[in-house]
Amino acid sequence: MDIRIFKNEAEIGKAAGQLFCDAVKENPSCVLGLATGATPVPTYNYMVEEYKAGNVSFKDITTFNLDEYCDLPKEHKNSYYSFMFENLFSKIDVNADNVNFLDGNTDDPEAESARYAEAIASKGGIDVQLLGIGRNGHIGFNEPDAELERFTHLVELTPDTIEANSRFFASEAEVPKHALTMGIHSVFKARKILLLASGKNKAAAINALVKSNITTACPATLLCLHPDVTVICDEDAYSLV
Ligand code: PGA
Repeated sequence: MDIRIFKNEAEIGKAAGQLFCDAVKENPSCVLGLATGATPVPTYNYMVEEYKAGNVSFKDITTFNLDEYCDLPKEHKNSYYSFMFENLFSKIDVNADNVNFLDGNTDDPEAESARYAEAIASKGGIDVQLLGIGRNGHIGFNEPDAELERFTHLVELTPDTIEANSRFFASEAEVPKHALTMGIHSVFKARKILLLASGKNKAAAINALVKSNITTACPATLLCLHPDVTVICDEDAYSLV
């Protein structure tokens, strides 16, 4: 695992954004796995800046988002679909036909999982998968548990995740209680994984990721089994290691 430590989240955004821009310059039709949350916003900002400066074009990329809330209309301002258009897709030249999301309102999660896996495979798999990390060590919405699901599945969010995500909603009661998420095996099929973490509230999770034994009680610890993982974090997130 390649661990890179930076001063603050702006520097993380630059480092991770540059990595994505380099991947796209090297292979203009590459497939990116994207994530939501507060952490990747500076990365997306950097990609937008580079696009606006004429340094990179995203017109031939394909994207797949990692997860999506259930029981939230796609157009709701807090859906991950809306998040991605607000923070990235509406500001770059990506082809809207090539951006892919899980349908959090499906009544058949198994069929939706199969559809998504087939769509990813039909594009040749994900080249670079972006991940955040939960305070509890979740990746995507793969929450700590005795067992972790392999493939894309419906998940009941933990109280800790609901509380963490309530900062984006008017109240905790409004946070969806379920989500669809790519499973661990689906994520691990990506050729490269890039995990970002900033802030002291991620320090325990980063400490576990770097030092603890592999355990489903902290899903991020499984990442040491993947052959190409880069962790980009700030000094606060690394402060307990
Ligand atoms: P955050 O979420 O970037 O908003 O902290 C990360 C995650 O829960 O995976």
